[in-house]
Amino acid sequence: MTTQDLIKVADECRRVLDNNWRDTHTIPAEGLYPHQWLWDSCFIAIGTRHIDNKKAQQELRSLVKGQWANGMLPHMIFAGSGSGSRDRRIWQAWRNPHAPESLDTSGITQPPMLAEAVVRVGEMMSSVERREWYQEMLKPLVKYHRWLYSERDPHNEGLVLLLHPWESGFDNSPPWIEQVHRHHKPWWVVVIEKLRLEKLMMLVRRDTHHAPPGQRMRNIDALLYFATMQRLKRKDWDIDRILDRPYFTIEDVAFNSILVRANTLLKKIAKETAHELPKELLEHMATSQKALEELWDTGHKKYYSRDFIRRKLIKNDSIASLMPLYAGTISRDRAEQLIDDLKNSRTYGQKYPIPSVPVSSSWFKPVGYWQGPTWINTNWMIADGLQRYGFHKEAGDIAVSSVQLASMHGPYEYFSAIDGSPAGAKNFSWSAALVLDFLTQHKAN
Ligand code: GLC
Repeated sequence: MTTQDLIKVADECRRVLDNNWRDTHTIPAEGLYPHQWLWDSCFIAIGTRHIDNKKAQQELRSLVKGQWANGMLPHMIFAGSGSGSRDRRIWQAWRNPHAPESLDTSGITQPPMLAEAVVRVGEMMSSVERREWYQEMLKPLVKYHRWLYSERDPHNEGLVLLLHPWESGFDNSPPWIEQVHRHHKPWWVVVIEKLRLEKLMMLVRRDTHHAPPGQRMRNIDALLYFATMQRLKRKDWDIDRILDRPYFTIEDVAFNSILVRANTLLKKIAKETAHELPKELLEHMATSQKALEELWDTGHKKYYSRDFIRRKLIKNDSIASLMPLYAGTISRDRAEQLIDDLKNSRTYGQKYPIPSVPVSSSWFKPVGYWQGPTWINTNWMIADGLQRYGFHKEAGDIAVSSVQLASMHGPYEYFSAIDGSPAGAKNFSWSAALVLDFLTQHKAN
């Protein structure tokens, strides 16, 4: 790529972020994603800090406004009008007494990237400003991490569990789809499946108006996800009632890896502001780091998510297995085994890395939603982990390839790992933001 190319792609990414800005926050993409999403805004702030750090702070403050009284950060804060009112009626978060009154949110969470975003935004400030910023964000962060443990780690084992694939952020990933089909299906879904009526879903689906159906979830999967959400809603988003008779509960390896990294960053934030974290939270953090190793499968030499009820690893390959590289606490030996897989041309080592599912998997589809294509956010997290383990060349290659994808086609939602063709939503905010971040690392190196 020439300097001209780099200037052009940076301009394009800035333009996308500008167009997707909505007064207080950035939407992921026009049309398809009209609300504020939790981990999207964290990635967006990491990019926006290079353009306007005050705006990046605002992005995160807006997220924290949606925090529930019990500490949960919801995965969506609905737009005040338009599809916002439709989704607000579907979710009915108000059934739970902890939901905020001043705005409408979903009733589940998403990966805890907030500590990372807070630190990255803080990096752009003077030490005095940073302390103030950290002080402001420390309280909601501590409240969120305590909630993750108190509600989602019922046996104090260190791994938090997820109740819906949407919480993982990798919505349609094979291990999740497999679990959703394996567990109890409501009778009406079974009837629809038997009578092959799932095409009717097309009448209510919004995503397929914005991207070709072959690049989105299958109707039957979308239906099951909807049914799972309805069930959580019927229990008023109340964890005790949900866990009383759960459909499925998964200890997701990617989510827990992100939590382990977020814990390390939260400790840094507390230290810089001379605050002591609650003792019980520090204990949970230490347990998490150890418990992550329980997800290691010695036979396959890989980390996998675990079915919390059956206590069995879900041995279905996906990029989630590489995410302990981002956690940063696994041994160098295990990190090297993951890196072997990352470079292997029969699995993840493709022309435009890193595919969300290895090409060796029977699930692999070049542009199937979370079932093969390359996403810029997973590239960013894995490259960051590689840097911290000292694999600078490998991290640099991922950064260059990510920038190249955006330069060839614009910051799309995802790309084929085989030939780089773009898919999903165009003008996708986190792709734009993280490409900008990659570009600054490029300059720094
Ligand atoms: C999709 C992605 C999810 C993301 C959301 C908004 O649902 O799977 O990770 O947060 O879109 O971009």
